Amino acid sequence: MKKAEIDQSRRNLLKGAASSFIIITAAGQYHRANAAPRDVQIESLIARMTLEEKAGQLSIFADSTRSNAGNINPTAVKSGVDDIKNQIRMGKITALFSAKGVAGARDYQRVSLEETRMKIPLIFAADIIHGQATQFPIPLGEAASFDLDLAMRTAKMAAFESTAVGIHWTFAPMVDVARDQRWGRVAEGAGEDPYLGQQMAMARVKGFQGDNLKSETSVLACSKHFAAYGAVQGGMDYNTADIPESTLRQTHLPPFKAAIDAGVLTTMSSFNDIAGVPSTGNHYLLTDILRGEWGFKGLVVSDYTSEAEMIAHGFAKDGRDAAKKSILAGCDMSMQSGLYWDHLPELVRSGAVPMRVVDESLRRVLGVKKAIGLFENPYRSMDLARETRDIRTPAALRLSREAAQKSVVLLKNENNILPLKKSGQKIALIGPLAADKEQTLGCWAIFPDYANAVTLEMGLKAQIENNALLTTVKGCEIEAKIDGGIAAAVAAANMADVVILALGENHNMSGEAQSRVEINIPKPQQELADAIAATGKPIVVVLTHGRALALEGGVKNANAIIAGWFLGSEHGNGLADVIFGDVSPSGRLPVSFPFHSGQQPFYYNHRRTGRPQTDPNHPQYRTRYREAAFASLYPFGHGLTYGQIEYGPTILSAPKMAPSGQIKASVTISNKGTRKVRELAQLYLHDKVASLTQPVRVLRGFKHIELEAGQTKTVEFIIRRADLLFIGANNRWQAEIGEFDVWIAPSSAAGTAARFELVNA
Ligand code: BGC
Repeated sequence: MKKAEIDQSRRNLLKGAASSFIIITAAGQYHRANAAPRDVQIESLIARMTLEEKAGQLSIFADSTRSNAGNINPTAVKSGVDDIKNQIRMGKITALFSAKGVAGARDYQRVSLEETRMKIPLIFAADIIHGQATQFPIPLGEAASFDLDLAMRTAKMAAFESTAVGIHWTFAPMVDVARDQRWGRVAEGAGEDPYLGQQMAMARVKGFQGDNLKSETSVLACSKHFAAYGAVQGGMDYNTADIPESTLRQTHLPPFKAAIDAGVLTTMSSFNDIAGVPSTGNHYLLTDILRGEWGFKGLVVSDYTSEAEMIAHGFAKDGRDAAKKSILAGCDMSMQSGLYWDHLPELVRSGAVPMRVVDESLRRVLGVKKAIGLFENPYRSMDLARETRDIRTPAALRLSREAAQKSVVLLKNENNILPLKKSGQKIALIGPLAADKEQTLGCWAIFPDYANAVTLEMGLKAQIENNALLTTVKGCEIEAKIDGGIAAAVAAANMADVVILALGENHNMSGEAQSRVEINIPKPQQELADAIAATGKPIVVVLTHGRALALEGGVKNANAIIAGWFLGSEHGNGLADVIFGDVSPSGRLPVSFPFHSGQQPFYYNHRRTGRPQTDPNHPQYRTRYREAAFASLYPFGHGLTYGQIEYGPTILSAPKMAPSGQIKASVTISNKGTRKVRELAQLYLHDKVASLTQPVRVLRGFKHIELEAGQTKTVEFIIRRADLLFIGANNRWQAEIGEFDVWIAPSSAAGTAARFELVNA
C-alpha cells in the first residue's frame, strides 16, 4: 500500500482562501469568494442604476432582426427592429446574440449610447464555434490535428472575421469531455480525453482573446457548458449527469480550469443536472468551485433558458423561484428567458435576494464590458469597411485548407492503396457525401456560406489530371434509398480502377439535440457500401461525420478508411490533398472508434476492472461483451501516415523519481518508408497501484515531429510529479508513491511500457 502524499490542492485552496474575500452563511445560501475588484467608473454606474436597469444588464436576448442564425434555436422570440430599440431604451436589452451585421449593430449601439439613461454600451455575441465566414473543421475534427498552434490560429482568424461583422463575444470554446459517442455534441468539443481537452481549451481561448482583449480583432471567449454536460446519461442530450464528484473533478472540470488559466472571462452554465442539482442553480459549482477555488473573475451566463428549465427539472417552483435560485447560485446573466428582467427587481425589493448579490453580478458583467474596451470604444468591431474586406481573405482560406489537411485521420491503408494517382487511374466517386455542399461545413456553421463550400468531388476534380477519369454517382441519400441508385453505383464501380466511397452523417446528425441510438452508417448507405464491396474493386472510404462511428461490413472492410469529419470551407480540397498524397496524413483520433454501436460509453482511459481480459482463449467471466472485447477497433490516438513508422522502446533516465524531481522519457522513431511524414508521439502514464482504481492509461503529452524518408529522430518528454496526480478519495488532487508505467507510443493501445517508481524524497 502507498501512503498518500501531502494533499497539494487543499493546501493551495487554503492559501487562496486566506488572500481572498469569502462569506459563507450557515445555510450555505450565499457565498462569495474572490469578489470582483471595485472599479470607480463601474461603482458610480451601479450607484445610479435602478433595479430594472440592473436586471436588464444581467440579461441577454436573441436578435432575429439582422443576418441571424436561422433556426439554431428555433424557440427564439422574433422581434422587429423598433421593438428591439424600444427595449434598449427601457434598459431591458443590453446584450444581443445570434446575429451579425455592422450597420444594424451600430444603429442599436447608438440608441443605447444616446437614448438611454445610463448610456452603457451593448455587447453583441454569437456562437462562432468553428469559424465565421470562413469555416474551419468542426472542433472534434480540429482536435484530431493535435495541433495547438493550429487551434490557436483558427480561433484567432475566427475572432478576426467575427469582429469584422460586429461580434464581440463568442459562445466558444465548448470544452465538454465527451465519452459517449451517441451524444451529438461530441462534434463541438475536443473528444474523450481531459488532457487533450485542456490543451485545446487553452489554445482556443488564447486564439479568440489574443493578447489584448481591447483589440478590435479580439473576441471574448466563453468556456461551456459548465459542467459535466458531456456526461449526460446514455449520451442523450439534456439528460442527467449522474457522476461522483471525483469523476467531475478528474475528468470534466480540468478543461474549464485550463480555460480560466488561459484567461477566459466568461463561462456558460450547462442544461444538465449533476446528482440532482441543475448546473444553473448549482452554488457549489458556480460559486464555490469556480470562484472560490479557481478565482474566476469573469461572468457566468446561463445556457439558452437553462434557468427557466429548472422549473421543468422540478428544481424551481416557477419563474420567480428559478430566477432567485440561479442568481443566488452565481449565474450572473440570464440568456433568453427574460426571468431576471421579470423577477429580479421584485426579488430584491422583497428581500428574497440581497441587493449585494445583484450588484456583484453587475460588477462582473460591467467588468467584462469594460475589459473588452466597450466603455472607451463602444463602436469597437463595428467598422463597415472591415465587414466585406476582412472575411474570406486568401489567408483565411489558406488556413482553412491547412486545418482541413491536418484534421484528416487515415485509419487504414491496406497495401498502401493511398495515395491515389492523379492520372492514369479511373476513379468512381460514390455516395451521398461526395458532392453535397451542405455537408461540408458542420453543425455550427452559424452563418453558413454553402455556395462557396468545396465538396470532395470539387476537390478531386481540381487536382485530377483529366476530369473524364472521375465519375460521380450518388447511390443513395444519406438516410434513404434512391430507386436504381445502387445499380448505377455498381455499374460505375465496375468501370473504375478504384472506388472512393463518400459516406457518413449529415451535419444535422451531430450537434445540439442530435443524440443517436446507434452510431453507425445509416442503413441505405451501408447497403450501398456492401454492394460496392461485392464488386471486388479496391475501395477507399471517406467518412463525413460528427462523432466516432461503429463501422461494419463493406465500410469496415474497405482497403482504406479516412476519418474526414466536416472540414469546413475547404473540405474537399483538404481531403484531395491527402488522397492524392500532396500531404501525408497526420491527424489522430480524439475519440475511440468502437467495434460495435452498443459499446458506449467507451473511452481509452477507462479504469481497470477486477476481471480484465488477459487471455483471448479464455474470454468467459471477463470484462467484455459477448460480441466485442473491451477494446476499440481504432483507438484514441490512432492514425496512419504515408511513411512506415517504427518506434523503439521507451527509455527512462532513472528508475526512481522523488516528488520534487523529474524523469526524462525518450524514444527513437524511424521512418522506414519512402515519403516524408509528420508523426505524433504520445506520452501515456499509468499508476500501477493506488488508493483508488486508476485508468489503464492517461495521456500526459504529445509532440509532432517531421521525418524524411529513412530518417530517425529521438523524442523526449519530461515527467514530473504534476503528471502523476489524480483525484483522491477526499476529492483533491494527489500523487501517491509507487510504480508507474510509461509509454511513448503512436496510439493509446500501442507500445511496451517502461517503469519507474515515485519515492519519498
Ligand atoms: C446551446 C449553447 C449555445 C446557445 C446560444 C444553446 O442551445 O446549448 O451551446 O451557445 O444555445 O445559441
